[in-house]
Amino acid sequence: MHTIIEPFRIKSVEPFAITTEDHRRRALAAAHWNLFALRAEDVMIDLLTDSGTGAMSARQWAAIMLGDESYAGSSSFFELEQVVRDLTGYRHVFPVHQGRAAERILFTLLVDRSKTVPNNAHFDTTRANIEFLGGTALDFPSAGASDFAHAAPFKGDIDLAALRTFLANAPVGAVPFGMMTITNNRMGGQPVSLANLRAAAAAYHGHGVPCFLDAARFAENAWLIKQREPGQQQRPLRDIAHELFRLADGCLISAKKDGLVNIGGILALNDDALAARVRELLILTEGFPTYGGLAGRDLAALAQGLREVLDEDYLAYREASARYLADALERLDVPIVKPAGLHAVYVDARALLPQIPPHELPGQALCCELYVRGGIRAVEIGTLMFGRSNPATGETVPAEADLVRLCLPRRVYTQSHVDWVVETFAQVVRDRARLRGLRIEEQPRYLRAFTAKLRPVAAPVGVANERSRP
Ligand code: F0G
Repeated sequence: MHTIIEPFRIKSVEPFAITTEDHRRRALAAAHWNLFALRAEDVMIDLLTDSGTGAMSARQWAAIMLGDESYAGSSSFFELEQVVRDLTGYRHVFPVHQGRAAERILFTLLVDRSKTVPNNAHFDTTRANIEFLGGTALDFPSAGASDFAHAAPFKGDIDLAALRTFLANAPVGAVPFGMMTITNNRMGGQPVSLANLRAAAAAYHGHGVPCFLDAARFAENAWLIKQREPGQQQRPLRDIAHELFRLADGCLISAKKDGLVNIGGILALNDDALAARVRELLILTEGFPTYGGLAGRDLAALAQGLREVLDEDYLAYREASARYLADALERLDVPIVKPAGLHAVYVDARALLPQIPPHELPGQALCCELYVRGGIRAVEIGTLMFGRSNPATGETVPAEADLVRLCLPRRVYTQSHVDWVVETFAQVVRDRARLRGLRIEEQPRYLRAFTAKLRPVAAPVGVANERSRP
């Protein structure tokens, strides 16, 4: 048999309203063409993020009922601690409410203005938490990672030569720890190879620098190693995941991804002295170390999620879902970041809509059109998110690329939902020459993508296309 099927049945459903284009056009205008300002009930297929949006299993819901809500010494904590120790091998396990809480706690203890933290590529919150403390966050993406059209198996790798040169020249004590993000979300959700992680960890350790994994999507990375890295095909997946963690000295995990839960995170490490300091800070800001800002039921659901996520049938299905979407988009000549990872398919909106210059936000224009046409919510990762306004001239300095991320929540949407997304794209591709850009009317000083108000440069996106249809 060649068909890869969902290795689960649906036991509980969450209806959503099938809306009309008219309704969505009005909702989009009311949201000032910013999809973060939409009410979720006005969205049909929400591909904004894979974070905290997955469906829990029957066993996880059962665990919710069994969660121990004791303030101290909760049995759900000890269950989670055992699962994380078995998975990672790290001695100290701290629950936190989500990934960025782990970042804030670890970085507060180790980063100040004199410190620099290297990574294959920092996720936004990771970078922001380092910079908030005055530190410097450095990215060392591998050569070729920004060549979207070129498919290579491990485009998430760190550039080892650049990392080694940096470490050799860094002043003593300036690098408190190094990081590796698996999978590399900033660079299109691309995986890191075992060989690259092994070499990066060795480079860090050679300079006495501990290595921390940002392991939000560790299971997806382990799966892609098993699929793509020579010599790894026969290994049990758990073994590969275990080696990833063993190569490093600790990890930060946003459990809202491969933890298969809607909220939660983990900070785990080996260093006893550092763990003692983490514990103090955790009590100060997150809660007692046996709950870390979560309810006992959250800990129990997470322990169960971590038991489930390395199931090879589940990961095969997940890879097949992403590939199904990516292949269909390619057949429509939609330029995508290749190869598709597991958690998202990224579309190169600048290449798809060459008539819209970067400062008129081609990525956001595509997101708006996908919403109007299909009720789909995607996210722009481009000039709206990362471009800057030149304070002298007021002009927008474009981001390196204008991508649109179509994220796949775990175990939520079926193949016909994905077919709907593909059909929507087919319409957009057919009419793409008519799409127009947007301009920013109002924006905050920081993180403008979340709250900026926009307006179409010509007629409202979608409206012009609609009227000019035969
Ligand atoms: N690290 C990575 C690689 C992430 O992708 C995220 C979140 C975080 C850390 C922060 O974790 O949200 O639990 O505090 N990524 C989400 C996304 C928001 O949409 O990609 P958090």
